[in-house]
Amino acid sequence: MDKPPNDPSAVGSSAQGSSTEPLIELRGVNKHYGKLHVLRDIDLTVGRGEVVVVIGPSGSGKSTLCRTINRLETIESGTIVVAGQPLPEEGKALARLRSEVGMVFQSFNLFAHKTVLANVMLAPLKVRRKRKDEAERRARELLERVGLASQAEKYPAQLSGGQQQRVAIARALAMDPQALLFDEPTSALDPEMISEVLEVMQQLAREGMTMVVVTHEMGFARSAANRVVFMADGQVVEDRVPEEFFTAPSSARAKDFLSKILKH
Ligand SMILES: Nc1ncnc2c1ncn2[C@@H]1O[C@H](COP(=O)(O)OP(=O)(O)O)[C@@H](O)[C@H]1O
Ligand SMILES: [Mg+2]
Repeated sequence: MDKPPNDPSAVGSSAQGSSTEPLIELRGVNKHYGKLHVLRDIDLTVGRGEVVVVIGPSGSGKSTLCRTINRLETIESGTIVVAGQPLPEEGKALARLRSEVGMVFQSFNLFAHKTVLANVMLAPLKVRRKRKDEAERRARELLERVGLASQAEKYPAQLSGGQQQRVAIARALAMDPQALLFDEPTSALDPEMISEVLEVMQQLAREGMTMVVVTHEMGFARSAANRVVFMADGQVVEDRVPEEFFTAPSSARAKDFLSKILKH
């Protein structure tokens, strides 16, 4: 047996809530680190409102992929289009496009000497030149949304890891991005804090936020993702709806990876 027959109803249900308008498009993207060919002919389209979970073994290029979408890394060939605009090389246009795509890292990267509120207000004040009262109103609203309204005046070190990561999500949202990239947002967290972060991400997904999420949380992938992208050795090996990917991965690499990750 090759593949299971196409089941249009299954595809329809997993694509629910997403539109077909592409928001992020990568075409033939290649990148090397010295001799290491870290991204190989990557083609990837993320539609507006879609949640794409990226999984794959360590070193397969997942973080590099995220970073190229934001031009934190340059590419050697191919094109990356965000919201219909090719990514500019540098300057104001790049700063503007970068702010359209928020990023949440494994390490929360909050400013230790600033309060939670000040962390969330910072970019809107500095980059968007928002008025202070407006930035504060919005920051408090976002802290409420991630369940941290009462922690606004604290400093990051006074918060748990899960709370700090929720602040990082609020901070990313404060720029009103069109999409959010998450690079292993729960990998640095103690197990009991993972779910509070995933719940915030689930909520964002339900509200229609476009998200690219690198994660090993297969429960999140199954319940929130429209598609699962499996990477190995710098290539997109599979790009499927979660149900198909988890029940019938077509590549040996994905089967092997799933057997390891689902065992524990
Ligand atoms: N700045 C860098 N310089 C050289 N090699 C790097 C750099 N960043 C990542 N790499 C290498 O590129 C490969 C892909 O890394 P990465 O994108 O971080 O993979 P993943 O996130 O899937 O674990 C790895 O072999 C890694 O060692
Ligand atoms: Mg990584």
